[in-house]
Amino acid sequence: GKSGYDHYMLKEIHEQPTAIRKCLRERVSELEGTIDVDALADLEHDGPVQFVACGTSYHAALYGAKLLRERGVPAQCFLASEYEVDAIPAIEETLVVGVTQSGETADTMSALRAANQIGAMTLALTNVVGSSAARECDHVMYIRAGPEIGVAATKTFASQQVALAMLSSVLSGEGSMEFVERLRDLPDQIQKVLDESNARDIADAYEGSDAYFFIGRGYNAPVALEGALKMKEISYEHAEGFAAGELKHGPLALVTDQTPVFAVIAGDTNVSKTLGNVKEVEARGAPVVAVTDSPEQVGQYADHVLEVPSAGPLLTPILANIQLQLVSYWVANRMGRSIDKPRNLAKSVTVE
Ligand code: M6R
Repeated sequence: GKSGYDHYMLKEIHEQPTAIRKCLRERVSELEGTIDVDALADLEHDGPVQFVACGTSYHAALYGAKLLRERGVPAQCFLASEYEVDAIPAIEETLVVGVTQSGETADTMSALRAANQIGAMTLALTNVVGSSAARECDHVMYIRAGPEIGVAATKTFASQQVALAMLSSVLSGEGSMEFVERLRDLPDQIQKVLDESNARDIADAYEGSDAYFFIGRGYNAPVALEGALKMKEISYEHAEGFAAGELKHGPLALVTDQTPVFAVIAGDTNVSKTLGNVKEVEARGAPVVAVTDSPEQVGQYADHVLEVPSAGPLLTPILANIQLQLVSYWVANRMGRSIDKPRNLAKSVTVE
């Protein structure tokens, strides 16, 4: 059941602290400051990594590829539906990682099969034990989010991000006591976001806008894309997410005083650049909502702030995303949408 929540989506948003604890269990050692994933013990790989995924899982994969590159592992990310349209980009030395909550998405399965066919090594990052992806791949790492009923992916996205953070440590051999401690603290920080969020007030203030835009740079760019996908999926409103720097290359033409811009500046190491983009939209009269762990630095440029605790550059974006999940939920709720089963969409997309 929904345990007293009006929708599965809201219940699952609130399950994120538990989901992350489960994802981390027996994989991070606080004593040693190490990250060890049993399921990956026999995965020996020092070549390039390619991610294939769709939708929200693709946004998690974008984040995972950034983590790997920062840690010195060449990594690329592909929409699964585009992976084999032209020549398949993998070579035998590539590790191809399918990020798929359900483990049944047809496009992702097809990309993984193609990778297996050319002799690349494959890994499924999935939530469902024994799913098609788990069976197809040479290796499997479970994200342990627990069943997700709402069509909108919420807790599985956070669990994918955390699983990818661990995977990137395993593959790069890089991980520090500090990172392990930050991972350990994440569930409590998520709880704090859930307990203190003012997302509902923001939804009240901006429901009925012409469109909703989301911008972010670096690790916050996938969060901007995800914020927009969630908004369009459950509210049926026009929403777009952009890497912050892209705004001035076209989308800025859409910005008016009727289009709130959510600027994700969380754990950001390029705050001044993203603030530059914020000033560009403000000059067009757009209301700005900053999603940030540095309100003292950013707040003066925003009409509203959705605050998150600091969890460092790699993990604070995970917290920012939770604020955006709540904004979408409350906008859709105010509009009376069918939140758990949005029109035209299915939980698991088994056709290509
Ligand atoms: O089961 P998967 O992770 O492979 O699903 C991929 C997408 O269909 C999925 O993430 C979709 O975008 C979500 N409904 C978005 O909330």
